[in-house]
Amino acid sequence: MSVVVLGSANLDLVYAVDRIPSPGETVLATGFASYPGGKGNNQVTAVARAGADVTFIAALGTDAAADPLLTSLRTAGVHDLIRRIDEPTGTALITVDASAENTIVVNSGANAQLIGLTDAELSAIGEASFLLLQLETPLPTVLDAARHAKAAGTYVVLNAAPIRTLPQELLDAVDLLIVNEHEADLLASQLDPTRTSVPVTADEAARLAGELVRSVPAVILTLGPEGAVVRERGSDTATHVPGIRVTAVDTTGAGDTFCGALVAALDRSPDLDDATRFATAAAALSVQRAGAVPSIPLEKEITDFRATH
Ligand code: RIB
Repeated sequence: MSVVVLGSANLDLVYAVDRIPSPGETVLATGFASYPGGKGNNQVTAVARAGADVTFIAALGTDAAADPLLTSLRTAGVHDLIRRIDEPTGTALITVDASAENTIVVNSGANAQLIGLTDAELSAIGEASFLLLQLETPLPTVLDAARHAKAAGTYVVLNAAPIRTLPQELLDAVDLLIVNEHEADLLASQLDPTRTSVPVTADEAARLAGELVRSVPAVILTLGPEGAVVRERGSDTATHVPGIRVTAVDTTGAGDTFCGALVAALDRSPDLDDATRFATAAAALSVQRAGAVPSIPLEKEITDFRATH
């Protein structure tokens, strides 16, 4: 069994602030650090740290910003099919405030050049048990990878973040969709333009997951501290996996940790509810630490945490 992640890799430039500046305002940071990040890189690291064999298809520049990303991937034991491109490595400017809220601005750089799939990349996808995708790399490449995986019998997981309009052909190739409340609401409105968009509460999440499961075989709707709702097509009910109460210091990459840990758990056993409990615990651990990649827990940390929470 093995996993392929296709996605972005960024160097995160993280500014700690007392409060996130309003438009036109300047604030002084209380701290600064740079960490490996990017949704694809975070998710592939989460898969590896949660104990699965995983390969990363991504694009990095040839600049110094790529070095900490490559070092981190090697340390995590990720197999790489990484292209080196004559563009700057992707970067993300992140502010994190005292209540752990953040804002993120991404300069895609080399990630935007992850175009077309090589024979080696296609065969890795075709031989894998799972393909995990996000939406920080060009959509045609995401679609090609998903279609190739579907044709080869590889289970396709799409984390639709950052959300954008999704072509039906992509949804047709997806086995499991992972979205947060905001992404779920926008996607449901895309699928049914007559629907009225409303703020999503935990109580309404099951109903919203029920709307989305008409378009894909299974949906996980993540609810931050409230946990997640799992809905599979053919089942009349959704499962609510409650969140684990912790004190968050930085939520950057928590969604990515959830996705990666979930796929690692599914790679061991197909029980989606149990994999969601494992992923929820991984995300709860990650928000207690600063940075995206540095906050991603190891399998043993997750199992120990589950045993006590
Ligand atoms: O999901 C968090 C990630 O989003 C950050 O690591 C940043 O690089 C952006 O891609």
